[in-house]
Amino acid sequence: MSVLQLDRYDIDISPIGSAHLRWLAAQNFAGIAVLTDNNTAQYCLPLLQEQLAPFHPHYITVSAGEKHKTLETCQHIWAQLFEAGAGRNWCMLNLGGGVIGDMGGFCAGTFKRGMDFIQIPTTLLSQVDASVGGKLGIDFYGVKNSIGLFRDPRAVWADARFFETLSARELRSGFAEIIKHALIADAAQWQELQQITDLENIDWSEWVARSVAIKQQIVQEDPHEKGIRKALNFGHTIGHAIESYFLETASPLLHGEAIAAGMICEAWLSAQQLGLSQQELTTITDYFLTIYGHQTIPEDIDDLLLSIMRQDKKNEDARINFSLIPTAGKVAVNQTATAEEIVGSLSYYRKLR
Ligand SMILES: NC(=O)c1ccc[n+]([C@@H]2O[C@H](COP(=O)([O-])OP(=O)(O)OC[C@H]3O[C@@H](n4cnc5c(N)ncnc54)[C@H](O)[C@@H]3O)[C@@H](O)[C@H]2O)c1
Repeated sequence: MSVLQLDRYDIDISPIGSAHLRWLAAQNFAGIAVLTDNNTAQYCLPLLQEQLAPFHPHYITVSAGEKHKTLETCQHIWAQLFEAGAGRNWCMLNLGGGVIGDMGGFCAGTFKRGMDFIQIPTTLLSQVDASVGGKLGIDFYGVKNSIGLFRDPRAVWADARFFETLSARELRSGFAEIIKHALIADAAQWQELQQITDLENIDWSEWVARSVAIKQQIVQEDPHEKGIRKALNFGHTIGHAIESYFLETASPLLHGEAIAAGMICEAWLSAQQLGLSQQELTTITDYFLTIYGHQTIPEDIDDLLLSIMRQDKKNEDARINFSLIPTAGKVAVNQTATAEEIVGSLSYYRKLR
């Protein structure tokens, strides 16, 4: 069992079992609600249902997917909580990927001015990223995560058994955040990661624990993203624009697939601006191509990608904000790049085909 003890709550990376349930019972919550989406209700809930039975939980299930991370779904969740007679002294267990964690935490954090919640992340992405750091929210007005709040869960229970039903593509998508954490903060971990070229038979608990430790350390230093927390944005400025573009096409990319392409582009910018060596750039590029292959980014969408980047909520003025890496394992926040440089990085990526 691996437990990261934080100031205010623990992240427990181990199979959920009697110790967890004893802890839950000891909290004396007045009631328990369990939020799932239709997939996690089918694939993940059976692992816990029997153990949860003594708590007589109120189950709430919503439709799976980012397109349901909306105010409308929240209204359904809040209404269900009212129906169940929930109060502020209840606790909600958010059993699902990042969508359920972000939206369930948001609903719990605002219900009657805030009830407790426990994150039980069931995707690799949500175990290493979404469930850590207290960011909660929903999509609104066409903008991802634009309504939300910072609030810590009472605990995070990360159980790698959930990955057994996760598709290989979803697993690979989450792996991009593990690579990112190593690239921004831990050169030795980056060296080790490069031995992994096939995502089967991996001890995920160990990698989740190591990766979460990196994110947690960064978040603890800067919980509200005033400075160093922006380090976690490496690959995301360009990657998020690529993700947004593909979202409107017939073949959307998963978050990690887009971020992998974004990290290649931003590694190229790092070489231009911060002296990341050509050798490191090549190693990083080759590793991402080995795991994620190459995406065809149309030649004529650079202006569109730039306009998406200009709207990024992490920009502080007219400049597009980047977090770049002078070398693997180090990061520099609040960097910027001209439109020409950004287009240059996209050209570099396209030529890798
Ligand atoms: N709060 C944060 O700091 C933070 C960080 C990163 C991402 N996010 C958010 O996380 C979301 C993406 O998370 P995600 O990739 O986990 O998406 P997701 O929650 O949509 O899950 C992906 C898919 O896998 C299914 N699924 C989940 N667990 C499963 C399992 N064990 N077996 C089978 N199917 C399963 C889900 O039903 C869904 O269809 C985005 O909304 C993003 O904004 C938040």
